[in-house]
Amino acid sequence: MMSHELRTPLTSILAFTEMLNRESSPKSEKEAQTRREIEANSRALLFMINDILEMSRLDAGRTEFNVETVDLGDILGLVQAVVQPLANRNEVDFACDIDPGVPLVQGDFEKIRHVLENLCGNAVKFTPAGGSVRLHISYHPECDEVWLRVADTGIGIAKKDQQRVFERFVQADSSLSRRYNGTGLGLSLAKEYAEMHGGSISLESALGEGSVFTVRIPVVECRLDAGEENE
Ligand SMILES: Nc1ncnc2c1ncn2[C@@H]1O[C@H](COP(=O)(O)OP(=O)(O)OP(=O)(O)O)[C@@H](O)[C@H]1O
Ligand SMILES: [Mg+2]
Repeated sequence: MMSHELRTPLTSILAFTEMLNRESSPKSEKEAQTRREIEANSRALLFMINDILEMSRLDAGRTEFNVETVDLGDILGLVQAVVQPLANRNEVDFACDIDPGVPLVQGDFEKIRHVLENLCGNAVKFTPAGGSVRLHISYHPECDEVWLRVADTGIGIAKKDQQRVFERFVQADSSLSRRYNGTGLGLSLAKEYAEMHGGSISLESALGEGSVFTVRIPVVECRLDAGEENE
């Protein structure tokens, strides 16, 4: 009920913006910029609402783990479609690629997509104009894992905050005058989702020197999990 009330008006703002863009071109650069702002901010708000709703579903034990055969290349395409406009807006170079040998995995398509959108969204958000973000997907036969790696050249995270940022509602910069919007839920959800797949999430970073987040998804364990789920 609540989710419906929160999401419906926002989705219609987005739909009307898309309609406007389809039916008329902006009359000035200022108008074009305004349209982009409406779209980007509505999307940001939709992400936040979705994360808060998802967190309460997790707590209530109402989150389903829908295991299916997932082609990570498909997810990559969808993530790119969402993140590229944000990157353009922030003047950040965004690139993603998947190695040719990456196998199909057994996992929850929507959850993996969510993890990548969160990580890439963060990377773009915390990277100043002129920087770059790269999403790279690779397979590691020695551990039978697929690695989803999001690297950025952004502001980085201090050692003392590197564990904390995976906790709920934690943001490295918690000052009232915070420059970056968000609820501080993205990484804690990403962690829960990675763990649901029998995987993990790790971070390498230094303040001012960018960050690298790596999600490891074990291909075999996912298969076992999938079996257990169906029992
Ligand atoms: N790529 C990154 N570079 C620098 N800092 C980051 C990066 N990713 C996350 N952080 C830090 O970790 C904090 C927690 O991230 P998280 O995604 O959980 O929350 P958020 O992005 O602030 O809000 P939300 O994801 O809920 O919109 C961020 O507020 C930021 O301080
Ligand atoms: Mg985030």
